[in-house]
Amino acid sequence: MALRTPVGGWPAAVRARVPAPSASVDSERLTGRGLALRYAGTAVVTLLLVALGAAYVSRALGIEEAIDDARRMTRGLAQIAVEPVLRDGLLTGDPEAIAALDAVVRGQVMPDLQVRVKLWDRSGTVLYSDEPRLIGEHFGLGADQLESFATGTVKAELSNLSEPENRFEEPANELLEVYLPVRTPNGTMLLLECYYGYESVTQAGQKIWFRFAPYTLGSLVLLSLAQAPIAVALARRLRRNQRQREALLRQAIEATDTERRRIAADLHDGVVQDLAGVAFSLGAATRSGGADVQQSREAADRVRQAVKALRSLLVEIYPPNLYEEGLAAALADLAAGPGPRGIRTELAIETPLDDLGVDETELIYRVAQEGLRNVVAHARASRVDIRVHRRDRVLVLSVADDGSGMDLEHLPVRPGHLGLRALADLAHGIGAGLTVESALGAGTTLRLEVPVP
Ligand SMILES: Nc1ncnc2c1ncn2[C@@H]1O[C@H](COP(=O)(O)OP(=O)(O)OP(=O)(O)O)[C@@H](O)[C@H]1O
Ligand SMILES: [Mg+2]
Repeated sequence: MALRTPVGGWPAAVRARVPAPSASVDSERLTGRGLALRYAGTAVVTLLLVALGAAYVSRALGIEEAIDDARRMTRGLAQIAVEPVLRDGLLTGDPEAIAALDAVVRGQVMPDLQVRVKLWDRSGTVLYSDEPRLIGEHFGLGADQLESFATGTVKAELSNLSEPENRFEEPANELLEVYLPVRTPNGTMLLLECYYGYESVTQAGQKIWFRFAPYTLGSLVLLSLAQAPIAVALARRLRRNQRQREALLRQAIEATDTERRRIAADLHDGVVQDLAGVAFSLGAATRSGGADVQQSREAADRVRQAVKALRSLLVEIYPPNLYEEGLAAALADLAAGPGPRGIRTELAIETPLDDLGVDETELIYRVAQEGLRNVVAHARASRVDIRVHRRDRVLVLSVADDGSGMDLEHLPVRPGHLGLRALADLAHGIGAGLTVESALGAGTTLRLEVPVP
């Protein structure tokens, strides 16, 4: 039974014999490693940026939350602890009223968190403070304090420790101050000011950061890990493509080399031998004192043969009629080639070939050419059929001979000979496929399938 094989799978061994240039192998590795490094670097930089951004946002959120807490706590303390012990005597500096408030501040308010407590009147005089040296001092009121007086709202801000009213505070300790209006029993509005250590505010920011960091950073790490296989696969594909490109390049170079060797061999075995023979017989005729008619005729015949052989070689190298007269005419010229070697050649073109693209036209011509060359070189055939037909959207070229065939599974590897392999690559490049069907003693069919619109 005849075996059928895509030509692409053929001379892996030939390819393997050609050593890859070591520089390009190194550069491939570098590309792979470079890509992995670039990927890891990007992941680390992204992680750092997100961590910094998240820290900044959490700090801002934490500060906002801590200030809100301080406001709420001050309001609670004012209502529950301070207002019930406010006496009108505070307005006049009555020591008993001051002592009553001082007891509550020291007993209930200070232990909680405050650093300092002050009670202001509208004029900006301190009526009470846990720091006795401030009581009775006049500092005036700032815009925020005045606003709090006017609107009855709670205000919170960072303390300006350089102001005289804060001269007893440690300059190194940042403070947050909260104001809120309170009333004495006779309805006089005063301003209660509580100071909180700023540390608690920044701690709140950190707390939020630590709460969110594992989710934010964790999800980023997971994302990077999930993407890693994709990155690796892409790097591999890139490397594979590079290798394929290199292999194609090598094959192209080898194919050119092989072609040059073949032309040289053709010239040497054919035309050069013929012309050498002519020169020899003309030389002999001259020496014998005159060319006889018979010798001259033979010499002229051989020169004509040589010219014909040179012409067909030129056509093979660059077939002018492929572009001037079309593919059908070029195939007809090709088919006329094996005739003189005693191989009957039949050509059947069953579909129009005029509107094919340049790539398709050249490929069909070259496959037919290589198929016929192989029949002449390897098949020991008596007949070869070239057929071009169309099946749906596929144009099919077949070159079938009745020769010795071959064992596709045990093909001899001939280094430097890759006529079909090079064509298979060419076919692959334009989406076409090349297959060989053959068995020992059962002839060979080379088939090209080209997708057409
Ligand atoms: N029609 C055929 N009949 C019998 N054997 C064939 C035929 N065509 C190809 N082969 C076998 O397949 C091998 C590979 O063919 P291919 O055209 O790739 O290389 P080549 O003809 O040996 O060398 P090159 O074409 O590079 O000059 C041939 O060496 C030959 O053994
Ligand atoms: Mg060949």
